[in-house]
Amino acid sequence: MGKLLQGKLCIVTGAARGMGKALALKYAEHGADVVLMDINKEGLEKAAIEVEALGAHALPIVVNMASSKEINEAMDKVEAKFEKIDILANCAGISTSRLILDVEEEEWDRVFNINLKSIYLMCRRTAKNMIKNKVKNGKIVSISSQASKIGELGNGAYCASKAGVNLLTQVLGLELAEYGITVNAVCPGYVNTEMMQSVFEKRGPIEGMTPKEYEELLTSYVPMKRMAEPEEIAEFMLFLSSEKANYITGISHTIAGGKTLI
Ligand SMILES: NC(=O)c1ccc[n+]([C@@H]2O[C@H](COP(=O)([O-])OP(=O)(O)OC[C@H]3O[C@@H](n4cnc5c(N)ncnc54)[C@H](O)[C@@H]3O)[C@@H](O)[C@H]2O)c1
Repeated sequence: MGKLLQGKLCIVTGAARGMGKALALKYAEHGADVVLMDINKEGLEKAAIEVEALGAHALPIVVNMASSKEINEAMDKVEAKFEKIDILANCAGISTSRLILDVEEEEWDRVFNINLKSIYLMCRRTAKNMIKNKVKNGKIVSISSQASKIGELGNGAYCASKAGVNLLTQVLGLELAEYGITVNAVCPGYVNTEMMQSVFEKRGPIEGMTPKEYEELLTSYVPMKRMAEPEEIAEFMLFLSSEKANYITGISHTIAGGKTLI
């Protein structure tokens, strides 16, 4: 496969580790320059060095996606340095591990601000930039979750926030189609990242299990009997970000090793 994103400018949120970092590296491998956003300064700087080692330009910006002020300031920096944005990937997210009756309002708001409101803010700024600059085949892709489609015990705020991502994706798909901008989401099942390891540690005890027992139980439900690797999700997001996917929009694509079939 040749380079799919030669000369494009991409923004990746949550780029310091996990799926966001895997995607930033994939974009760079395919010829794009990458703006990396994350709250984790150290991880972000390491990821930016790895992006540059692939021959791409990297602009790391430390930003708390829970703050609309910081998001707007970060986007001001992007627009001061680059003329137009071709691709936005919303990967930053946090999970919860508390029964709804125990979730305090502050935690609920934090989950919604990072997992959903930040995507609305990033999409609004980016789509306006794309429209103003008459970007051809602009792309927006967000990470939702399998947990957006079916409720999970001890994960209520997260499930509800990710269900919001799916509907935001549909509506933006409708509203931006006339500009040739596509908007998609991916809904991964279990992915082998630090977030998932912390889910095993926190949610195992809620289910009366050790983290290892809980990990084994969850992977036993997956027909492929394993978690996905971050690069496997990034590979599909790369496709959705490329001109090969110009006619796909408004869809939340499940990638779960067959988990939703049983
Ligand atoms: N791991 C899984 O099994 C799984 C499954 C489905 C969906 N997801 C979703 O995939 C996305 C990536 O998850 P991951 O597993 O790679 O997790 P991760 O924790 O490894 O990475 C998430 C990144 O988001 C960043 N982030 C968190 N809060 C932030 C904030 N306030 N401001 C800026 N950056 C912030 C973190 O610093 C981190 O670098 C998330 O949206 C997550 O909800 C994960």
